[in-house]
Amino acid sequence: MFTDKEVTPQLDPARIPAHVAIIMDGNGRWAKKRFLPRIAGHKQGMENVKTITKAASRMGIKALTLYAFSTENWKRPDSEVNYLMSLPVDFFGVFMPELIAENVRVQVMGELEALPAKTRQAAQAAMADTAKNTGMILNFALNYGGRDELRLATQAIARAVQAGTLDPAAISDDTIAAHLMTAPLGPLADPDLLIRTSGEERISNFLLWQLAYSEMVFTPVLWPDFTPAVLTAAIAQYQSRDRRFGGLH
Ligand code: FPP
Repeated sequence: MFTDKEVTPQLDPARIPAHVAIIMDGNGRWAKKRFLPRIAGHKQGMENVKTITKAASRMGIKALTLYAFSTENWKRPDSEVNYLMSLPVDFFGVFMPELIAENVRVQVMGELEALPAKTRQAAQAAMADTAKNTGMILNFALNYGGRDELRLATQAIARAVQAGTLDPAAISDDTIAAHLMTAPLGPLADPDLLIRTSGEERISNFLLWQLAYSEMVFTPVLWPDFTPAVLTAAIAQYQSRDRRFGGLH
């Protein structure tokens, strides 16, 4: 656990994690500390997505996955859900020229059909408008849940077996990975590093399959206060770890 008060560490440029996933937590507490409504925290959180996207792209991260809305977040009051659903519209509306200038390719994963039309259209337009970009993939998890993803993948695989196009004995890890919502990320699908902000230390139904061998870093910093220096410190922790993937070195 660390904050950006510590000295910014030097990173090994050869070992920047290719895929970083972030559970952006603590917007509500950030607002509460300032006697502001919760949505003010989400607005500041969205502003910070811009800052961290640019910093990550410039550090050489190849894919940045951000948990923006979970399948469980529908349980929040309607007013907060409506505000969260308006954020992608604002974000892509304002930030698109900069994303294109940064050569960032936007991906959005989740059950997009269940989103309000304006949110879904903003997500689809962002993907289409950046489809030819060759730089960092900015992958939003929007109406995403890890169990939901595994349920949908299981159904699709079962349908292929039933249709006679897939032999159950031939189902491999790659078969499953190909049916997950991270499949468009190709070899980058599994995060090297998961960061969760705000001091909570749990996975909350995020990337259940893909996190199997990810390094995890938890910071007490609330998402709106998460700076490029805190990201750098998290990557320094990652670089200090010994990744064995179940083997021995
Ligand atoms: C968790 O904080 C945060 C969320 C549920 C929403 C995260 C969304 C953003 C940071 C903005 C997304 C931006 C785009 C462009 C889609 P919380 O509300 O649970 O905070 P708390 O635990 O302090 O109450």
